[in-house]
Amino acid sequence: MFAVTPKGVEQVAARELAALGAEEILPDAGGVHFQGDRALLYRANLELRTAERVLVFLREFSAATPEMLYNQVRRIDWLQYLRPHMTFAVNCVISKRGAPGGPNHSHFTALKIKDGIADDLRKRAGERPDVDVEAPDVRVHAYVLGKRCRLSLDATGEGLHRRGYRQATGAAPLKESLAAALLELSGWDGESPLVDPMCGAGTILLEAAARARGLAPGLGRERFGFMGWTDFDAALWARLVAEARARARATAPGPLLGFDRDGRAVEHAREAARALGVAGDARFEVQELAACAPPAGGRPGLLLTNPPYGVRLGAEGGLEALYRQLGDVLKQRFRGWRAGLLTTPDMAKHVGLKPSRRIPLFNGPIECRLLLYELY
Ligand SMILES: C[S@@+](CC[C@H](N)C(=O)[O-])C[C@H]1O[C@@H](n2cnc3c(N)ncnc32)[C@H](O)[C@@H]1O
Repeated sequence: MFAVTPKGVEQVAARELAALGAEEILPDAGGVHFQGDRALLYRANLELRTAERVLVFLREFSAATPEMLYNQVRRIDWLQYLRPHMTFAVNCVISKRGAPGGPNHSHFTALKIKDGIADDLRKRAGERPDVDVEAPDVRVHAYVLGKRCRLSLDATGEGLHRRGYRQATGAAPLKESLAAALLELSGWDGESPLVDPMCGAGTILLEAAARARGLAPGLGRERFGFMGWTDFDAALWARLVAEARARARATAPGPLLGFDRDGRAVEHAREAARALGVAGDARFEVQELAACAPPAGGRPGLLLTNPPYGVRLGAEGGLEALYRQLGDVLKQRFRGWRAGLLTTPDMAKHVGLKPSRRIPLFNGPIECRLLLYELY
């Protein structure tokens, strides 16, 4: 199997997979190879916080021409996975690292694969299944690197970052899987106080509350790709969900505090906290960065935030001043704390503090760094 992750998050997902009992774990660019049984496949979908989707490997082959691709696809017995009354779809990803010589048009490649599958089913079962790109029973995933093509079944469907707790978001929310990875990479222990002074729709705090409560991220979802498969084991799934529910704790140690100057974003964060059932754990208030201070109680914790970069939110003037202000707040008020900032490499220098680590990450297509600080 292969767990697709945001770039830079592979090692974190590998540790999560090890904790679930996966075997033959091998981090690669953009994901992690691993092995396991059906229960592990279901648990990976239910419990991985930092992965985007889970693929089940079918076959890899070389195909220099569309005809070769079609013929290779037809060498699989698709009746194992699909019946004529079922629907299917094919997604194709062509790697940008691609060696020359292979297909370079993902839509055309997907069509060729779809034809091969439909013709195979027509030959074996007398009828072909229908295509449904929105909600197919079976989604076939093709990964093309040069002339090599790897076919897998997509066990996830809609990306795993769709936890089901969020309706509306602010202008530039983090993906839940990346927010969960930031918490891991910054070494948050799940118990110390956590503050996000520019929390937007609250993703970091919401993921923190879910982790601290031991809430499996997939508990709020109704559907996963593997539920449409011919071998879907509903009893096994129900048992794994019940076990995950039983592991959840009633409260998070906290405090988990999110602030933002934007009242609408704060309202979105509160709504999501209610939907997730953590409104008593993660608290959100409208507040300017300038007013941010550690919570009463004196226990040091982690300040983790994703300030505006001026890329997706538009090139606002005054961003440099905002980063200087953030640096001042950290130096003057958060002594003894640790801090993590996800930002672009060029914004980092305006903080005026020396990070102890710089971890390269991608927020979607935007190259970022997670900067970690020890605030003595
Ligand atoms: C990139 S967004 C954070 C997104 C957030 N991580 C999420 O997942 O939704 C940056 C946030 O910083 C907030 N912000 C910008 N300047 C601020 C300030 N001076 N004080 C408080 N919040 C501020 C913006 O309102 C915005 O919501």
